[in-house]
Amino acid sequence: MSLTLQRTALDVIGDDLTVDLPDGTTVPFAHLDYAATAPCVRAAADAAQNLLPWYGSVHRGTGIRSQTSTLEYERARDLVGDFVGTRPGDTVIFTRNTTDALNLLARSLPEGITTIVFDGEHHANLLPWRRPLRLPTPATPEAAVAALRQALRSLHGPALLAITGASNVTGEIWPVRALADEAHAYGARVVVDAAQLAPHCPVDLDDLGADYVALSGHKLYAPFGAGVLAGRADWLDAAEPYLSGGGASVEVGTAAEDVRWAQGAARHEAGTPNLLGAVALGAVCAALKGADRGALHSHEQDLLARLREGLAGVPAVVPVSVFGDRQPRVGIVSLALPTQDPAVIAERLGREHGIGVRAGQFCAHPLTRRLTGSARTGGCGTGAVPGLLRASFGLGTTGNEVDRLVEALRRLTSRAG
Ligand SMILES: Cc1ncc(COP(=O)(O)O)c(C=O)c1O
Repeated sequence: MSLTLQRTALDVIGDDLTVDLPDGTTVPFAHLDYAATAPCVRAAADAAQNLLPWYGSVHRGTGIRSQTSTLEYERARDLVGDFVGTRPGDTVIFTRNTTDALNLLARSLPEGITTIVFDGEHHANLLPWRRPLRLPTPATPEAAVAALRQALRSLHGPALLAITGASNVTGEIWPVRALADEAHAYGARVVVDAAQLAPHCPVDLDDLGADYVALSGHKLYAPFGAGVLAGRADWLDAAEPYLSGGGASVEVGTAAEDVRWAQGAARHEAGTPNLLGAVALGAVCAALKGADRGALHSHEQDLLARLREGLAGVPAVVPVSVFGDRQPRVGIVSLALPTQDPAVIAERLGREHGIGVRAGQFCAHPLTRRLTGSARTGGCGTGAVPGLLRASFGLGTTGNEVDRLVEALRRLTSRAG
């Protein structure tokens, strides 16, 4: 009897990579760094591949290539909109990534808005805001809500809460709905940085209680350089265009100031857009929306439990968390290594065991400093400072890969390692 392998839209491309180890053996590569960049899935690759014969200018031509490209670009916008549950009056703007999406919103805030952030955010959601009110990251979800309430009471004027859906350091899911309800009770708006939430959980604007959501295609299995800001259109329609140029301008006169800017997404998407990125992202959004996300979630939670159980037997590594072990989390675990340099262990995991993880501060310096108790700072992503070691996973990750990581960590952190 022959086995027929069914190709599905969410198959991970490259899950059969192998690496040669110094001892002469060859092992399957275990990619456990999804939180940085997830691998491409078939839906994204197929969507890009299928469009190539038709590829042309978006919103700019009458030929069949241009017409098809325009249709596909706008279809991708609809698919992403469906994925995040856009409502009447919402817009979907294609950006480069989450960083770009949050910078776009930050530049579009009306005068007088105070942005409130917790200091445990990824830098993409910490740095774009002008003079934000930064709250210390609290020890419990309830304390987060209480701290927000206090901040909102002390403010005299409109506010925006910028909050992560899931931490890129600890994987913990933040109490977004409770925070959003609190924010809305004081008339504030809420933007959710869903870069790490969207690959693991449904991100519905209404369910989250969010006014805006930002995400990255390359973390959502569509690594073609597109991201998204979706949510309420009013501030965005009233703001200066994020990018000035063709496509964003409806009419340009001879005087420098004589420009009529477009409304809607076009206002902030000047220049030729990233068609393949948008289409690939739309395709993954559609595939995920049609998938059994409950089953994907259960599989991931099983892997998490397996990893945490295994790590409990490795005394030299300590999983870190903000809210404690019981907080729901996505497939991201960061480890403190009190007696070793995480960068060295991460490098040896790659070279000697064929396992890809990440070490460092993960562009969340205030949080990682607090979690490691370290007072040192350093370059983002350089691995030049002792920080944490992070394993993260998603579609395509297997129990065997988790077991290999645990075993390799046990060996590398033991005296003989
Ligand atoms: C929680 C979170 N927000 C924002 C970002 C920034 O994403 P990007 O680099 O795709 O802009 C990241 C990236 O790791 C992240 O983990």
